[in-house]
Amino acid sequence: MAENTHNFYIPKTNLIGVGAIKDLPEALMPLKLRKVLIVTDKNMISLGYVDNIEKILKALFIAHDIFDGVLHSNPTVSFVEDGLAYFPFKLNVLAKDYDFIISIGGGTNHDCAKAIATVATNSGSIGDYEGWKKVTKPALPLVCINTTGCGSEVTMFSIITDNSRKVKMLIGSPFMMPSISVNDPMFMASMPNELTAGVGFDVIAQCIESYICTEASPITDALALHGINLATQYLPRAYENGNDLEAREKMMYASAMTGMALNNAGLGYVHSMAHQLGGFYNEYHGNYDAILLPFVLEYNAVSISDERMIKIAAAMNIKTDNKSEALDKIIASLLKMRYDFKMPTGLSQMGVKEKDMDQMSQNALKDITALLNPRHGTVEDIKGLFKAAM
Ligand SMILES: [Fe+2]
Repeated sequence: MAENTHNFYIPKTNLIGVGAIKDLPEALMPLKLRKVLIVTDKNMISLGYVDNIEKILKALFIAHDIFDGVLHSNPTVSFVEDGLAYFPFKLNVLAKDYDFIISIGGGTNHDCAKAIATVATNSGSIGDYEGWKKVTKPALPLVCINTTGCGSEVTMFSIITDNSRKVKMLIGSPFMMPSISVNDPMFMASMPNELTAGVGFDVIAQCIESYICTEASPITDALALHGINLATQYLPRAYENGNDLEAREKMMYASAMTGMALNNAGLGYVHSMAHQLGGFYNEYHGNYDAILLPFVLEYNAVSISDERMIKIAAAMNIKTDNKSEALDKIIASLLKMRYDFKMPTGLSQMGVKEKDMDQMSQNALKDITALLNPRHGTVEDIKGLFKAAM
């Protein structure tokens, strides 16, 4: 049989479930840490989440500083540089500033923290590491306390916007894998319902893309299918009532599973295209996914086996043994959810302009997530998908 490896990477420790935060001291204690930089945003401070972690650090006699400069949901090179300003002695081992980083927030904050942790030990600037496996030294150890749910807390990828090129850079390396992830739904209860909907659609899109991409393996298949099942069942409840901790907990499991699936399988054109939209317009990523997913799924259908399409439908509790019926019903179900959640239905409503489509389509095909899409398209194909989604 031809060589065909599927290595599997996840954080060493993953604390998951209602009350999981109480196990953080036990996970930190053996590391004998001295000083930590917390990477977060002002909203996390006002919600009291940062205070919560500060108390844990104090009890463990770990000193800390707070960088709260993650200003919006598409982290830029300048956020990373602002965080690195806390490391005046970087690369001077004797004068090491921080032993590790704790990121508190959603994927945005985790991505920014991963980038800071990477440059803190590798030097240079984050743009030097764009692509896959360009990082040569282990990043500073990272703990991700997750408050939304899109999987970044368990991935070795960071997405950072380079405003000068209007490109979302994807940086990935096993050296960037967080050491500890914490998924405690208590930190999600205050998430507003528009964000719950967007994050939920991101989870669903990521699960579907990692299930149909060319690097899927039996392990990632299991994670992706169960993630689809949990997210499509519990997202409506989490949207209706943010304090429904059972629904929040199930969404957190779906988030962790989608992160593990995409981290080890990959994604596809929904993300290659959504990354460009984020680079140009700076709206919330999950809303782009929600608009693009039905179109990209239909486009990809010729390259998806009958069995896989039917299994996606089955994971959404749609019973059929016919591929085209499965596709129709999957799309109908996604559109219904999007309608029920009052989400935008077209890219034009989100400020997307036709004049930017040439550039975005070319960039989308260069995005590394495009390489694993089940169907290989042209720039014209991508442009057609952007137009259809307007
Ligand atoms: Fe995503």
